[in-house]
Amino acid sequence: MTKIAVVYYSSTGNVHQLAAAVAQGAEEAGAEVRLRRVPELAPEEAIASNPLWRAHVDATAGEVQEATPADLEWADGYALGTPTRFGTPAAQMKQFIDTLGGLWFTGKLANKGATAFTSAQNVHGGNETTILTLFNVFSHFGAVIVPPGYTDPLLFEAGGNPYGTSNASGGKSATASEAELAAARYQGRRLAEVSAKLAA
Ligand SMILES: Cc1cc2nc3c(=O)[nH]c(=O)nc-3n(C[C@H](O)[C@H](O)[C@H](O)COP(=O)(O)O)c2cc1C
Repeated sequence: MTKIAVVYYSSTGNVHQLAAAVAQGAEEAGAEVRLRRVPELAPEEAIASNPLWRAHVDATAGEVQEATPADLEWADGYALGTPTRFGTPAAQMKQFIDTLGGLWFTGKLANKGATAFTSAQNVHGGNETTILTLFNVFSHFGAVIVPPGYTDPLLFEAGGNPYGTSNASGGKSATASEAELAAARYQGRRLAEVSAKLAA
């Protein structure tokens, strides 16, 4: 059975919603899936200052396990999801990526399918640049990047982002539309299917 890791960071729940949908799609393709959130780095005061952030941290604490590098070593393919932070991935995701040196050095991240998804407040607020920044990382890993492209008509309904599923949240929580969730499920299915071929 193909093994897929969906590893994400989310402050206020939008990327969490997309991550769950990517995981669901990979399961629909027959994969064994680990849905994992990277460790939170922000101080309690910062989380407490935003009711949406507080609610999301509390809701997922017991629901989603924390990611470890071993999850990516285990996987045949991986999906990384992060909100946009000034057009780049969140520091929490970057910190997790920076723990992967040992796996990178021993080639354990190479030749696997890799895909990315994101959420920004604004439609043109950095969704594509955030995903492309993760593609830089995937290149260093020697992964095989699996973008959605325009390989299914449902992607047009979700905004037609060929790099990865994206959402414009307007700064609210858990705003992914049905079309965006369908695109995220499709992205998970496609990752699982391509990763299965790579692993074969
Ligand atoms: C420090 C910081 C920087 C951000 N930078 C951007 C940005 O450059 N463009 C944008 O559209 N949204 C930006 N946002 C908003 C988030 O990306 C947006 O609310 C996203 O939907 C959050 O995803 P989440 O609910 O999974 O945490 C920023 C938020 C924070 C806290």
